[in-house]
Amino acid sequence: MRLRKLVAGNWKMHGISSDLAEIEQIASAARGYPQVDVALCVPAVLIERAVRAVPEFPIGGQDVHHAERGAHTGCTSAGMLLDAGAVLTIVGHSERRDSQRESNAEVQAKAHAALQCGLNVILCIGESLAVRERGDAVETVLAQLDASIPQAPTEEAELAIAYEPIWAIGSGKTPTTDEIAEMHGAIRERLKQRYGGEGERVRILYGGSVKPSNAGEIFAVADVDGALVGGASLKAADFMPIVEAAANAG
Ligand code: PGA
Repeated sequence: MRLRKLVAGNWKMHGISSDLAEIEQIASAARGYPQVDVALCVPAVLIERAVRAVPEFPIGGQDVHHAERGAHTGCTSAGMLLDAGAVLTIVGHSERRDSQRESNAEVQAKAHAALQCGLNVILCIGESLAVRERGDAVETVLAQLDASIPQAPTEEAELAIAYEPIWAIGSGKTPTTDEIAEMHGAIRERLKQRYGGEGERVRILYGGSVKPSNAGEIFAVADVDGALVGGASLKAADFMPIVEAAANAG
């Protein structure tokens, strides 16, 4: 099944007031590609200002707490993200799994909480270089998928999966298109086993060093339904050619 492509930018810890002009530029250019869903996940404190600057454009968070409220210093709930105007959030990014020691169970709880609230979720999974070199990448990523995704799909909001090999993030390295095809195919099969027919409609994004020069060949791979883009999403000049490649891939 061919799904509409989603190209989401992950701004990580980049973005202050003076960058709102770049967000405006991206949002305005994205209107030229109505066949692609485009979104930007920005730092939590920038969400509300970004939403005010580009009210029609999807703005998201980069993490969410699983609880509705409570004694969780420094954390942000799904309801708070929605209240700020966000319509989606990333969960389980490898930078958080590593630096905040987030477990699969925690990521699953976060995804569940966000989806129940009506916040769309991009849930990240991916293997380390050691695992890839050992030949265990598919098995490892599927185990992570099994343990991180919600028990059942929700009707309130959309779940998307981002396959992001850790060694490809910010490194300029990417897997071969055959390796991406193998992984995305395996993820698709597992989603169908888990969610039945609904598993066919879950978008599977690729993430890790996506740039204008490689986006076209990555989007041409079966079961690549979009991209999660870090570094190349910070500037419209880099990000929009990736959106255009998604539009051309159909
Ligand atoms: P990158 O980051 O595009 O800079 O490699 C991707 C990500 O971490 O989501």
